[in-house]
Amino acid sequence: MTSSVRGAQLARLLGQWHALPGRHRRPDYAALAAAVRGLLSDGRLPLGVRLPAERELAEALGISRTTVSAAYRALRETAHLTSRRGAGSWTTLPQGHRVATSGLWAAGDDGDVIDLGVAASPAPDELIGAARAAADDLPRYLGSAGYHPTGLVELREAVADDYTARGVATSAEQILITAGTQQALDLVLRLSVPAGAPVLVESPTYPNALAALSARRARISTHGLDAATGWDGELLLGALRQGRPRVAYVIPEFQNPTGHLMDAALRERLVATAHTAGTELIVDESFVDLSLDGAEMPPPVAVFDRHSRVVSIGGMSKAYWGGLRIGWVRASAPLVQRLAAIRVGVDMASPVLEQLVAVRLLAQAPQIVAARRAQLRGRRDALLGALRDHLPEWTVTVPAGGVMLWAELDGPISSALSRAAEDVGVRLAPGPRFGLDGTLERFLRLPFALDEETLTEAVKRIASVRYDLDRGARPTWRAPAVIA
Ligand SMILES: Cc1ncc(COP(=O)(O)O)c(C=O)c1O
Repeated sequence: MTSSVRGAQLARLLGQWHALPGRHRRPDYAALAAAVRGLLSDGRLPLGVRLPAERELAEALGISRTTVSAAYRALRETAHLTSRRGAGSWTTLPQGHRVATSGLWAAGDDGDVIDLGVAASPAPDELIGAARAAADDLPRYLGSAGYHPTGLVELREAVADDYTARGVATSAEQILITAGTQQALDLVLRLSVPAGAPVLVESPTYPNALAALSARRARISTHGLDAATGWDGELLLGALRQGRPRVAYVIPEFQNPTGHLMDAALRERLVATAHTAGTELIVDESFVDLSLDGAEMPPPVAVFDRHSRVVSIGGMSKAYWGGLRIGWVRASAPLVQRLAAIRVGVDMASPVLEQLVAVRLLAQAPQIVAARRAQLRGRRDALLGALRDHLPEWTVTVPAGGVMLWAELDGPISSALSRAAEDVGVRLAPGPRFGLDGTLERFLRLPFALDEETLTEAVKRIASVRYDLDRGARPTWRAPAVIA
């Protein structure tokens, strides 16, 4: 984890920090303080990080030290910063704020905020019935201590059967049940990525995967996905051959955040090249159930694996419910045992009751998944329609599945727009949050997990502040000073 940020680094993160809407035009110090708060709330500046000395930041930004002093004072007043003489200034979480499920910071009193920072849906109707049935089933397990580090056999079997049905023969011994896909990723990284090891990820990618990699102190390099066309096969395979990373992390189904689906031919070549390069592939299948237009799905990446190069991870958060915290790893049986041994040092095992709920839900998979797909299809189309109506300058590639789209904006305004959107009650995750180096300002991830009406309202609000950003360049009306 970074413990301090240099002036030049913070300047790069801040980007166009003074680009704020005309209506909200404020003095430089206030704009700078707002931009730092924006970085805190979208997670690019973590909690407890030491900010550069005032003079250093002033030099990096080419502004006066007085402006930086005033901005730091403003941040102290809102409790986003704590300073101690001689020791420096640290970012802090203001009282009443909380960490949101997306990993982003959120104000505590945000009841009316439309949250487009989270790409996950509410629970299906079937959940309550599944929970009741699971409670009735619980006595079967109450006679034992209840710790099952690899997971309950009946759930491992259900997950394994699903892989087998998708075309990759799998036994229960090859499945480890985890607390969500996120823990699956963390455990695999603990085993496979020593500090400083090179890791290849897509750019853009899922921010909490980047957080897990930073926690392992991985040396991260990226393969850039094209917003319209997705992976460039030659570049991706070239990056593996040349960089020979220890691990490559990919999201081949409805990639977060671009929504692209990797075709079968590239899957096959990816596995072959990873084998030659000595790279382990971590394949995140979080969105695999969510094909929205009925297209035939390519086979799982693991189908092409003949040398145990592929570890697949997945879970129930997207098609079922994130609150269950059920995920899994599919790997060779010996690897599953090694992961289970690590997992005992983390949280021992997954809760028995939740696993029984998961078994009941998976038994109703066809019906639950079909309803989820229909719901998301309607919401995706509503979001696309609202964007066409209210933000026609933006370019969007229609995702064939998943929960989100990746809009290309009409300028490098993603962070400024996200800050302005907060003022009209919309929380956004700006493009740079999905990359490493403060780029991706031309992009914005828009999930379509909320209902149609809310999505349309959110787009209208975003559009209203979008056009304000341009007006910011013009002189704004001020009350005339009284001349006595
Ligand atoms: C690509 C990807 N991986 C992992 C996760 C984490 O999922 P879980 O809730 O199963 O831990 C998400 C959630 O958004 C995701 O998009």
